[in-house]
Amino acid sequence: MDFQKPIVQIIKERISVRSFDKKKTDEAAFKKLEEYINKVNEEAKTKLRFLLTDKREDSGSPEKLGTYGIISGAERYIIGVLDKDDRDDVELGYLFEKIVLCATGLGLGTCWLGGTFKRSDFEQVAKLQENEHIPIVSPVGIKKEKTGLVNKMMRAGAGSDKRKPWNELFFEESAETPLTEDAAGAYKTVLEMVRLAPSASNKQPWRVIRVKNEYRFFVCRNEGYGVSSYDLQKNDLGIAMCHFELVAEELGLSGVWVKEEPENMPEQWEYIATWLAAD
Ligand SMILES: Cc1cc2nc3c(=O)[nH]c(=O)nc-3n(C[C@H](O)[C@H](O)[C@H](O)COP(=O)(O)O)c2cc1C
Repeated sequence: MDFQKPIVQIIKERISVRSFDKKKTDEAAFKKLEEYINKVNEEAKTKLRFLLTDKREDSGSPEKLGTYGIISGAERYIIGVLDKDDRDDVELGYLFEKIVLCATGLGLGTCWLGGTFKRSDFEQVAKLQENEHIPIVSPVGIKKEKTGLVNKMMRAGAGSDKRKPWNELFFEESAETPLTEDAAGAYKTVLEMVRLAPSASNKQPWRVIRVKNEYRFFVCRNEGYGVSSYDLQKNDLGIAMCHFELVAEELGLSGVWVKEEPENMPEQWEYIATWLAAD
């Protein structure tokens, strides 16, 4: 088993951790996490890779892996690297979240960082090849009991304790009719775990429309989250798909991902993928 606890429990427990306790460690947990990262690297369909840095051992690593004061006490980081040409931002989000959930299950804290980190520091540690880019990193370690002021400000700024209600995220047949929790049936928990997913600035751009046995995933973009060197909102859809698939699997609900853009597209949403439920 890849995860140490039920995935629903892990998803409920995960929260962004920005203050780490340098004095505490759990080497067995880090070893398991590293093994899992290696496994995920093998699973990748595009040319992306993940690595776990350890500032304490890696003599080539810079003194500081800069996060503009957002993260304190972290000595290890998970780094996501993608190829600029063979690039799939949804896949990177999907796989990085698997690693985050594995870390959470092992009792380690994480915090997705897509903006507040100093790329050049991390590029040096990751020994970046030509054509590679680092879109995402996350500190990983033991959470400090007391969280700092910066964390409180970041949480308040993004409204991190809140999620959009069901009727803004999940729909039946078309984008006009909300899907209720009762009507979701066996998929109620699966969708609820999508709702609890982390997203960049907590924008929650995921939208799902159920049409018979199809769960169609779309991104509803926020202004200012443009597509330049990395599409953070596509990344968020990858996170949502990760939660959806892992929870469905845990609940014994089988299905497959397909990519077939529907004919009637909701205005202003962009299609990502469809989960074709077997039952
Ligand atoms: C793709 C992505 C990028 C993020 N980038 C940052 C970041 O640069 N700095 C930061 O402090 N938090 C960042 N976050 C954390 C989000 O603000 C956080 O996940 C969200 O507010 C929900 O809070 P929670 O993770 O505690 O549930 C990022 C999250 C995601 C998914």
